[in-house]
Amino acid sequence: MSNPEISYFGLQAYVGTTKHMGGFESTKVLIELCHIGKDTYVLEVGCGVGATACYLAKEYGCQVIGVDISKAMIARSNERAQREGVADRVKFKDADVQDLPFEDALFDVVIGESVLTFVKDKQRAVRECARVTKLGGYVGLNEELWIETPSAQLVERVRKIWDIKPDIPTSEGWMGLLEDVGLSDIDMRTYKFDARREASQMKRYDFQDMWRMFYRLLYLYINNPDFRKYMAGRKRLPKDIFRYLGYAVFVGRKSR
Ligand SMILES: C[S@@+](CC[C@H](N)C(=O)[O-])C[C@H]1O[C@@H](n2cnc3c(N)ncnc32)[C@H](O)[C@@H]1O
Repeated sequence: MSNPEISYFGLQAYVGTTKHMGGFESTKVLIELCHIGKDTYVLEVGCGVGATACYLAKEYGCQVIGVDISKAMIARSNERAQREGVADRVKFKDADVQDLPFEDALFDVVIGESVLTFVKDKQRAVRECARVTKLGGYVGLNEELWIETPSAQLVERVRKIWDIKPDIPTSEGWMGLLEDVGLSDIDMRTYKFDARREASQMKRYDFQDMWRMFYRLLYLYINNPDFRKYMAGRKRLPKDIFRYLGYAVFVGRKSR
């Protein structure tokens, strides 16, 4: 991966780290609410560099498929599965969550962490997640939401600054999306930004991961003028954003 795509996700794939709000603490909540165990067949959509998928295979011994729209993310995920010795239990594939290449009712659990926020047709994506889940199985998501409705100007500023242009619903918006595709008994846990939970992000990565990330960033900084230009042009999110922006873990059961 010598020539990374100079974009938010392109650079994350190159460096080998992806994240979601609430970090590892939220991942643990998601796993618990989805009742994941040794015999659970799990699909993770938007798996990024494969950290959660590999963690599940390693800690729970279950079979996991991870999909991501980015081939560069999938390459990093495969490297991780090899490194962590779980390649027999975790498989990765490039695919769009809006059009999953799996038969109906294949998985016991489908999870996604900070993925649908960035997807255009959220209804279609949630429907796909529900379609490939078995009756009685769980769809569990951890996604950004507006805790308090911000002004239209603030929403526009966030979209301009964040080059991935997230389209963030409210909690009612997310609930509606889940209920519409036949998910019931929805357990929704809403969180405000909390620095301690965010710091748990790095628990999915070990010292060697950190070293690799540092080395790759340094390499890019020294050798890639487009990267330096991109970084210099990045603006900070508005200071008061976390009054409005939070996230929720929500898990629903497929009931029809
Ligand atoms: C914020 S990252 C989160 C990655 C990972 N879930 C984690 O928590 O580390 C979002 C991921 O979603 C992927 N993604 C975006 N749109 C997608 C789509 N339509 N289908 C599948 N993956 C998508 C991106 O490539 C990226 O890897």
